[in-house]
Amino acid sequence: MSKRAAAALVASAMVAVLSACGSGGSGGSSADGTGSGHKLTVGFSQVGAESGWRTANTKSVQDAAKKAGITLKFSDAQQKQENQIKAIRSFIQQKVDVIAFSPVVESGWDTVLKEAKDAKIPVVLTDRAVDSKDESLYASFLGSDFVEEGKRAGDWLVKQYQGKTDAVNIVELQGTTGSAPANDRKAGFTDVIKADSKFKIVASQTGDFTRAKGKEVMQAFLKSQPKIDVLYAHNDDMALGAIQAIEEAGKKPGTDIKIISVDGVKDAFTAMSQGKINVDVECNPLLGDQLMDLIKKVKAGEQVPRRIKTEEGVFTQDQAAAALPNRQY
Ligand code: AHR
Repeated sequence: MSKRAAAALVASAMVAVLSACGSGGSGGSSADGTGSGHKLTVGFSQVGAESGWRTANTKSVQDAAKKAGITLKFSDAQQKQENQIKAIRSFIQQKVDVIAFSPVVESGWDTVLKEAKDAKIPVVLTDRAVDSKDESLYASFLGSDFVEEGKRAGDWLVKQYQGKTDAVNIVELQGTTGSAPANDRKAGFTDVIKADSKFKIVASQTGDFTRAKGKEVMQAFLKSQPKIDVLYAHNDDMALGAIQAIEEAGKKPGTDIKIISVDGVKDAFTAMSQGKINVDVECNPLLGDQLMDLIKKVKAGEQVPRRIKTEEGVFTQDQAAAALPNRQY
């Protein structure tokens, strides 16, 4: 063997060793769970950075991918469906192993999901669902039951006003129009309170899941509604924005206007411990580890459940104050 051929042999052996080290698995295991030494690449299209919940969810997904030895191509859609469609098309072009995404709205996904299917790239939904009739377009959906969250919010309200007969005027800050959590949290809540005609939703508008919009819409509600007893906010950021509006209007949040919120982020628990939010229905953003496990299974061709629901609770003020020191997000 010539000196040059021997050097080439040594170099290619080194490349092989280095790429094996980079596969993320110890003892020859692989991220795709097949023992093939192939490091998985996942394209992840996130909704945006609209809320504290979302920030915690992004961190959870990124940390979990690192831990699992998965290369994550992360794309922030800034709350726009067209950006998510572009990101998914780009993931298809890059031939990623799996696409995961949290759809900003429920409808309008069939075409791009069909493109992923034709390219034989499995899709996993996380956090939010799509309303597609064709179930073959995605492998699984991991996330909360938003209808149940809405029902839990309604149940708390019904209990609070048990035995009372006066009208209860409710204003509602909805999440992003057309999104699964906005649709479902509204549906679940309405379903529970409709049994008693004293509960009236006197105004309902989107605050796009952001603090700024929550404040702006609450200011408008305070101007247009002569009597507001309860605010139902579809997430904590909108509730926190609304609290500012209520205080600036000279009223006491949590006392003059009862506040029901959803998520359970630290800032909201702090507001609860100060008596400003009355109840918080939990929505868990820490989905990263479960998502990475699911992705590996899907890629390995294992059978996975179509729907995986997150375990969640409901926090009253006392419970929130007790949980606050150890709250992770
Ligand atoms: O999809 C989950 C929802 O989206 C969370 O409740 C909200 O805070 C986020 O923006």
